Parts: sequence; C-alpha cells; structure tokens
Amino acid sequence: MPTPPDLVDYRSAWELAPEVAYLNHGSFGPSPTIVRVARQRWTDELERNPMEFLVRRQETLLDTAARNLAQLIGGRAENLAFVPNATVAMNIVADNMPLEAGDEVLLNDHEYGAVIRIWGRRCQMTGARTVLARLPDPLSTPEALIDALFDRVTPRTRIIVVSHVTSPTAIILPIAAICARAKAQGIRVCVDGPHAIAMCPLAIDTLGCDYYCASLHKWLSAPFGSGFLYVANRHKAGLQPAIISWGRSLNGRAPRWQDELHWSGTMDAASYLAVTEAIQFLGDVGWNQFRQQTHALARYAGERLCESLGATPIIPDDSWYGCMQTLAMPRIPRESHPQPGTPHSWQTRLATECGIEIPIVEWKERMHLRVSCHLYNTVEEIERLVAALSSLAGG
Ligand SMILES: Cc1ncc(COP(=O)(O)O)c(C=O)c1O
Repeated sequence: MPTPPDLVDYRSAWELAPEVAYLNHGSFGPSPTIVRVARQRWTDELERNPMEFLVRRQETLLDTAARNLAQLIGGRAENLAFVPNATVAMNIVADNMPLEAGDEVLLNDHEYGAVIRIWGRRCQMTGARTVLARLPDPLSTPEALIDALFDRVTPRTRIIVVSHVTSPTAIILPIAAICARAKAQGIRVCVDGPHAIAMCPLAIDTLGCDYYCASLHKWLSAPFGSGFLYVANRHKAGLQPAIISWGRSLNGRAPRWQDELHWSGTMDAASYLAVTEAIQFLGDVGWNQFRQQTHALARYAGERLCESLGATPIIPDDSWYGCMQTLAMPRIPRESHPQPGTPHSWQTRLATECGIEIPIVEWKERMHLRVSCHLYNTVEEIERLVAALSSLAGG
C-alpha cells in the first residue's frame, strides 16, 4: 500500500460544493474565494460609472494586471495581450499565420482536439495541410520524443504547434528543446500552454517560442474567461484580432499592438483584472509548496489506481507530469455513442451517483482517467475515487 502524502488542508480557501470530490481542475479550475471577490469588486466598480471605468481607467488597470502576469511567466508585458482563453489565442495565431498551398503545420498525437481542428480549418482555407507526428509509445526519453517529432519535419513545415502540458496524457513536453531545434531550422513554434501556467516554472522570453497561448482559469485558478496570447516581437506588427473593433486606445494613448485585442466591443474585463489576486494567492501559498503538494497527491492517486484497478500510467517516471496524471484503465469498458463527445457512462455515474467529477477519455483506443489534484483535494477523495471505480468494475 503506498504511503499517503502529508498535505496541508487549503480547502477552506474555496467555496466548493461540500459533497463533491472535484478532481478535474485541469479542465475547469474553480477560483478561490479571494479571487472571486476581487472579480466581483471590479465588476461593481464598472457598474458604478461605466464611462469612467471603460474610457479613463481600464487601459491603465490592464497594464498593471499585464505587468503582474508578465512577471509570473518571465516575460515582458509588451508581448502579452489578454484574451478570454487559449482557444481564442490559438485562433488568432492560426488566422495570422502566413500559409500557402503545400505548406505544412506540424502537430502530434497528444494535442488537444479543438486545436487540431483550428489548424485544420486554417489549412483548408489556405491549401496547407496538418501533419500529425506520432510520439513514441511508450514514452522513454525527451530526446526520443523530440526525434519522433522532428522526423516529420519537411522543407514545407512552417510551424510546429505543441502543448507545454498535453491534455489527454497530462505530460510535460520538452518545449525549450523543441523551440531551440525549430529555431535552428527556421520553423515557427506556437506553444499551447493552458495547463502549464502555475504548474510549471516558465521563462517565456527566453524560451524562444513565436507564440504562446494560455488560459489562466486552469491551474492558476484565475477567473473563468481569463487567458493570454504571447507574441514574439517579430510577429507583433499588423497582428489581426479574431473580432474586429476600434483597434485603438479609447483614451488617446499611443497605439500598441494589443489595442486590436483588448477592445472587442464592450465587455467586463473583471476576469483579467483579478488575475493579480490569483497570482498573489498561489504566491502566498508558495510556488514550491503548490507544485510539490499537488504533484504528491497526483502521484499517490496513480499508485492507488495501479494497485487497486490495474491501471497503467502514461509514463511511470513522475518527472514527466505535474499536478495531474493520466492512466490507462483496462477495467473501464470502451463505449460507442451516436453523438461524438457524449461522456462515458462511468464518468456520468461517478458524478451523479458518487459525487466525483473526473474525466474519462478514450485515447488511442484505450480508456484513460485523468486525475487533477489542486490544493483543495485530499487523500480521502482519492480513496473515494478508488472505491467508486472498484465498485463500478464489479468489486
Ligand atoms: C492543451 C489544451 N489546449 C487548449 C485548451 C483550450 O482551453 P480553453 O477551453 O480554456 O480555451 C485546453 C483545454 O482543456 C487544453 O487542455
């Protein structure tokens, strides 16, 4: 029996439904109360005098929030624009990517389905094509992974789109080495990074990527509807937004490339402004404490699932994952549904009968469970999950 980790209890910092074991922070990360209060405060200020807030204050407030975010991710605020989520950021990158007939966009078989779709559409519009590299299965070393990716590079490869932390498999990819090798070959890199913010230390300015797309409502626990797009200096000029609006300051400030993105018609920027409190919250906990505690619980969850349910980790070496782990689950049956996207019946039963929220996904024709562990999760919740799955599997 693996030894349970000794955890500090942070659950009271959130107002989660008490009866629910929420093990899916990786998809939709709830904010601690302090962050939700901050967001509400910004909304209240907007409502008091919208003219003052939107025209005279908002640009400066966003500058401050961007500086705080830039400091967290090791970049400069001049290279960041707030967007509602990684999906919007990725659409902007795809729509601005110069592609011609015959060009190639290189992705891999661990990428997020919606991201593959975004690039598929862009390729359809331009006559380019997406190429999906197969990463080694099983995974062994970062070098072997990088070689498998670059084996699919051709003289027509224009951009590599790669997750920092993958969605179906929850592994941390060696993106610095990928960026360095791509740069040497004159290929752009767009990093899809929503899971990496807070989970992984980041020095975005030295990473050498061309674009970085992220949501902040995952591991950072910032409000839903907060994300950013990082653009290297060489690509900023003329970048077009997903939604066209004024494209300039509302306050007479000198033009900036972010002006195209920060005003997409009237909206409430409270989610962006409360990013500061999310950074502060985890900073007060301590970045190492956050990473170590959540990793220890994710590792323990994996050990218990292997022991009790014959699960197999995507990769046993725990340096490949952070606060979440994916495991193949041989005892979860495959299902076919007429409607793609229908949740697995066990996922629904875990939620409705056992109060456990966790995703079950089919990947490479095998059923997988992805366990997310944030500061509010406990050893007891992992035991509850193991017991519930054992019962569904017939004891
Ligand atoms: C790797 C990856 N990319 C992109 C996204 C899209 O994030 P969002 O829905 O916040 O836009 C996700 C969401 O889970 C993801 O896991």
